[in-house]
Amino acid sequence: MEKMIVAIDGPAGAGKSSVTRLLAERLGFQFLDTGAMYRAVTLAAIHQGVDLHDEPALQTIATEIEIVFDGEEVFIDGKNSTAAIREPEVTRSVASVANAPSIRSYLVDLQRRIAAQGNFVCEGRDQGTVAFPDSFCKIFLTASPRARAQRRVEQLSLSGKPVEFEAVIRDQEMRDQQDSTREVGRLMKAEDAIELLTDDLTLVEVVSELESIVRQRMEH
Ligand code: DC
Repeated sequence: MEKMIVAIDGPAGAGKSSVTRLLAERLGFQFLDTGAMYRAVTLAAIHQGVDLHDEPALQTIATEIEIVFDGEEVFIDGKNSTAAIREPEVTRSVASVANAPSIRSYLVDLQRRIAAQGNFVCEGRDQGTVAFPDSFCKIFLTASPRARAQRRVEQLSLSGKPVEFEAVIRDQEMRDQQDSTREVGRLMKAEDAIELLTDDLTLVEVVSELESIVRQRMEH
């Protein structure tokens, strides 16, 4: 039977990753965090001392490393790298990897191979537009810049790394700019995606809304 894919795209801080995990659990689907793949290649490149603008070298790394997802955890060549891929150095550097067209096409292909194995909720920037344009249900999750930054401040404070709101806003503007101007796979709402603004909604409210949208689609 044809596998089902729910594609969730949106900017950093819109709540995609918590929403994706919870929605997948409710639906009995698996989830795929595609940002983690770009982060994994970036981390491996940093470890190997590779110039992050050397696309052929990045491509060698992308094709040679083994990225394995196990629930919430990410393993690179057998090593648990769940925390390491979220380190600020990786977050600062990942845009050069995500901008490289050959890396994108390799990772999109990998995403399709993984998603062919079951029903998936896939999150990223280009899931509804590039990776899974035929997906039966596409969601574009957004929130205002201030709401997104506020969430980020709260997250970081909970993990013992307090930051200034203004610094987060500046950082976020830079990432938005990078995400929406890259040549390939830029952040864009698919024409047939349903847009949901999450500013005034709790996580559970967002997930419930999306669950009902997906279930309606599944009936048709
Ligand atoms: O969602 P995230 O912050 O973990 O994503 C990390 C980086 O990868 C971010 O710069 C956006 C980019 N990305 C992308 O270009 N395409 C995707 N499908 C997912 C993430």
